[in-house]
Amino acid sequence: MSCCHHYYAPTENGDNAFSVDISSITFGSGVLTEAGSHAQGLGMTRVALFTDKRLTALPCVAQVSASLKAAGIDVVLYDEVKVEPTDQSFLAAARFAAEGGFNGYVSVGGGSVIDTCKAASLYASHPAPFLDYVNAPIGAGRAVPGPLQPHIACPTTCGTGSECTGIAIFDLLSMQVKTGIVSKRLKPSMALIDPLTTYSLPRNVVASSGFDVLSHALESYTARPYTRRARPANPTLRPSGQGANPWSDLGCEAALKLLGQYLQRAVSDASDHEARDNMMYAATLAGIAFGNAGCHVPHGMSYSVAGLVRNFRAEGYPQHEPMVPHGMSVIVNAPAVFRFNAPACPERHLHGAQCLGADVRDAALEDAGEVLARQLISMMKAAGIPNGTSAVGYGEADVDALTAGAWAQQRLITNAAREVTRTDLSDLFRGTLRYW
Ligand SMILES: NC(=O)c1ccc[n+]([C@@H]2O[C@H](COP(=O)([O-])OP(=O)(O)OC[C@H]3O[C@@H](n4cnc5c(N)ncnc54)[C@H](O)[C@@H]3O)[C@@H](O)[C@H]2O)c1
Ligand SMILES: [Fe+2]
Repeated sequence: MSCCHHYYAPTENGDNAFSVDISSITFGSGVLTEAGSHAQGLGMTRVALFTDKRLTALPCVAQVSASLKAAGIDVVLYDEVKVEPTDQSFLAAARFAAEGGFNGYVSVGGGSVIDTCKAASLYASHPAPFLDYVNAPIGAGRAVPGPLQPHIACPTTCGTGSECTGIAIFDLLSMQVKTGIVSKRLKPSMALIDPLTTYSLPRNVVASSGFDVLSHALESYTARPYTRRARPANPTLRPSGQGANPWSDLGCEAALKLLGQYLQRAVSDASDHEARDNMMYAATLAGIAFGNAGCHVPHGMSYSVAGLVRNFRAEGYPQHEPMVPHGMSVIVNAPAVFRFNAPACPERHLHGAQCLGADVRDAALEDAGEVLARQLISMMKAAGIPNGTSAVGYGEADVDALTAGAWAQQRLITNAAREVTRTDLSDLFRGTLRYW
């Protein structure tokens, strides 16, 4: 076994370069009060302020709204964002955006809010049939034809990293599968990241969004190297999901170390502000990393785990309909996938486990997948994550349907360091059913 991540060596057909799209980030306690000045700097005079119903009652939305108004900006609130958005909820938000005559957008919320704001701004500026911009093969994968209005994203979960990515994810109700729209043009103009917002997060939202961060970092770190992706015909077409590269590696390693140190503390004690602040920074680091590398199979599988949900409801999340929160739908796949992926780059899997706190002194490279899987399982257990896909409602009889939904996510499936066949994917789902 040897590692395939030898960067910079000349390749015959693979890409010979990686690109870095750096987000504009302001991070610190209390920065939400700066929203008005930054909005002014971006030329905004009439703003659509996106959030969800639970957040409207919290101080963060009032703070941002007051700061925008103090800067002389017209503010119209949209609090109809659906937690875990759908094509229908994206379209409703797009209608609001198209009718409002806005020249700027501000989103205050988790990934659901930030993604909805991106989509609303896209369809308001560049109207098209909904599936045109959606990833192929589910949609037409059409390129976004021009820039969007400026968008300031203020995350309140620690968290998806959506404030640093050009991705908007939603549930396509007619196909019962999650998918997304991906374009560098969707990336917010700036991220205003205030760790104080995380202090009101319910325990289970910290656990789920924290494992989302963890998987962003581990997947980007163990993605195929950019040199193994085909060189683009036109250099401007190099995708943001370009594969592992030296830039994204830095963010992944730093995020994994913070997660090893602070994830469990942040989950179990809401008053542990040091832990929650550091989780917010880990989310930012992982967001920058996966926004320039791309996730792989755990995320690809998550889109059918979330999309095919029957009865599962998670504490701390809205209860009016069944839902597997994003981070849970991802991490229940992770131990099985990393066991499978490890032979392609065992050093990286061992190092990932070590960053997360595993003792790897006596581990052989052959054990890398198992060592990492065990570390993940012990962290999942401690944080109250469901025991595999059977604990969120699936069984052996669902493997075909789960596989079909995930196989459609080729952008993600082909970004793993190890090649994945459709049969492998079914075996992987079988491996996710129960871990302890
Ligand atoms: N665009 C991307 O790059 C990207 C990456 C990963 C995930 N996602 C998507 O993001 C969504 C998940 O986002 P999320 O995990 O951030 O959660 P979320 O936005 O779905 O919010 C989860 C719950 O937490 C509540 N909440 C949010 N902030 C709070 C706070 N500070 N205090 C109290 N309650 C708060 C919300 O009201 C909601 O009920 C999914 O749709 C997922 O697919 C997008
Ligand atoms: Fe994610």
